[in-house]
Amino acid sequence: MIKITHFDHISTASENQEREIDLFTNFFGFQIRTEWHSDEGFYGVGFNVPGKDRVGWELLVPDNNESFLTGFLKKNKGPGIHHVSMQIPSAEEAIHNLESLNIQPVITKGEGHHNVYLHPKRGGAGLLFQLFEGEAWNNPDLPEPTFKKNINSVGIKRIHHLAQAVIDEASVEARYEKLFGYKSIMRGPRKTSNEFVTNVLETQTKEIHWELISSINDDSFIKKFLNERGEGPHHVTFIVNDWKQAMRACKNREIEPFEFYENTINNSKYIECFLHPRDMAGMLVQLVWEEKEGIWI
Ligand SMILES: [Fe+2]
Ligand SMILES: [Fe+2]
Repeated sequence: MIKITHFDHISTASENQEREIDLFTNFFGFQIRTEWHSDEGFYGVGFNVPGKDRVGWELLVPDNNESFLTGFLKKNKGPGIHHVSMQIPSAEEAIHNLESLNIQPVITKGEGHHNVYLHPKRGGAGLLFQLFEGEAWNNPDLPEPTFKKNINSVGIKRIHHLAQAVIDEASVEARYEKLFGYKSIMRGPRKTSNEFVTNVLETQTKEIHWELISSINDDSFIKKFLNERGEGPHHVTFIVNDWKQAMRACKNREIEPFEFYENTINNSKYIECFLHPRDMAGMLVQLVWEEKEGIWI
């Protein structure tokens, strides 16, 4: 297993810098931490995200048509989640670990960061994983930044999980357990479905959860997703502070949430809904409000 010290960030690629910065800051309530330009052909924006674990967000925008991001955006048919990034104590150990499982990583060494990439098609199940030895961009040892009160935002409390659509969740679970120490803590879905199964994993640092979704029916929406796009990120789930504020923020932006669901766990209420990728930088977003902190999975 590769030792992971911090889940640093989730990264979105898009051609529309202005629109996504507006979405991330004004709607999600993230705050810009840093902006830079890379010779590798892109602009980057790093965001602070609410939550004590300091899991951040990143936006990458290609600066020319030859950029690797342009290729990604074309294949992805628009913006979407490009990679996730985790801090490791030793790149050498990670390389050794991957090679012992016959996974050939992509390795780069820049100023201060030794990166080991798990390619979407070579072990990543449609998602690029960046493992880096070096200083965290979203340093969990620093105190949580103060977020300006923004009642027009959806009011995110923290990132809960990232869900990946995969052909066979059991084999991906086994691989992620061996590689990253992810562990299954719940098999679902909670509302019985004849279309799909889900497998919720706890990550090694417990900073976010992970979810694997597989189809069990040839007509299911997961099967359609896999047929059209292949394996890859399916949705991201945020816990919100205040359901009324979240709904008002959607209304103000003329976003129509769908698939509302309300229930209780141990007599505590929770509410869920989804926001369409066309309004969310290519990501299907799930919002969840829980009456009691930590009850919802
Ligand atoms: Fe990144
Ligand atoms: Fe989910």
